[in-house]
Amino acid sequence: MSNEFPHSHLLGVEELSSKDITAILDLSESYISLNRKKDKKKTILKGLTLINLFFENSTRTRTSFELAGKRLGADVINMQVSSSSVQKGETLLDTAATLNAMHPDFITVRHPDSGAVNLLAKKVNCSIINAGDGSHEHPTQALLDALTIRRRLGKIRGLTIAICGDIMHSRVARSNITLLKTMGAKIRIIAPPTLMPACPEILGADECFYNMSEGLKNVDVVMMLRLQQERMSGTYIPSEKEYFHFYGLDKSKLSNAKKNALIMHPGPMNRGIEIDSELADDINRSVILEQVEYGVAVRQAILELLAERIKND
Ligand code: NCD
Repeated sequence: MSNEFPHSHLLGVEELSSKDITAILDLSESYISLNRKKDKKKTILKGLTLINLFFENSTRTRTSFELAGKRLGADVINMQVSSSSVQKGETLLDTAATLNAMHPDFITVRHPDSGAVNLLAKKVNCSIINAGDGSHEHPTQALLDALTIRRRLGKIRGLTIAICGDIMHSRVARSNITLLKTMGAKIRIIAPPTLMPACPEILGADECFYNMSEGLKNVDVVMMLRLQQERMSGTYIPSEKEYFHFYGLDKSKLSNAKKNALIMHPGPMNRGIEIDSELADDINRSVILEQVEYGVAVRQAILELLAERIKND
């Protein structure tokens, strides 16, 4: 198994090969079935400790890591650290050293600073899983998004996927572009000029659009993003009303995509700003709740693969 997944941490999708990604997605499939059963318990993490260390708010990610760990038999501890009380740098490393002294086996970390999770991984001797660092990476989100797409459309290779909204501040966009490109998809990014990075080509997308209707032409998947207000200093959009008019997903813009194109959003979503409520709730097109469901399975798969290495050490 350690040959199948040759990593001690999950810091980003950048370090994952298509073989690694396929191994994670394949294993996740078995957890989707398990999670739909009455008895969801396994004991493969028995005796191991998982700490969820969150310096930013989270509903989906933290809960699903907690469920994933508990369903596999680990002891799980949640630490919600208020970001305002964090003295950046030193405090993060002090926290890491403190937790490390308690011999956890995994720490999942969410932090507002890009790169903080990689730094922490150098200071501890357990497996670190990135649960989102600033605008940098959110690997488990990209994995669960890939799983959702693969299950619904049967493949990833050859699909055209549009990622729309606050590209500039989004770790979901960065991780998805890298992962979906590795798996052979064609990626378009769509954003207002103020929310598009100055050099969009460095993100690795195939095409970049400022007009949403043009960008959505014939796409297989429409992935919407939340406006990351907490990462903005100053005003990036004239008004929420105008943003929805030009960049919110509504029926008229969606009509440019393929007839059965999937609608995705990592959540939490701002209805009527990023996405029309009716589309978000459209049970035939929107896969937003499937993304949440598969998020637990993907995190179980990651924990299992990392645990194999812990046991073999
Ligand atoms: C994303 C995140 O935190 O980056 N949410 C999530 O993990 N479900 C997206 C977001 O907050 O916009």
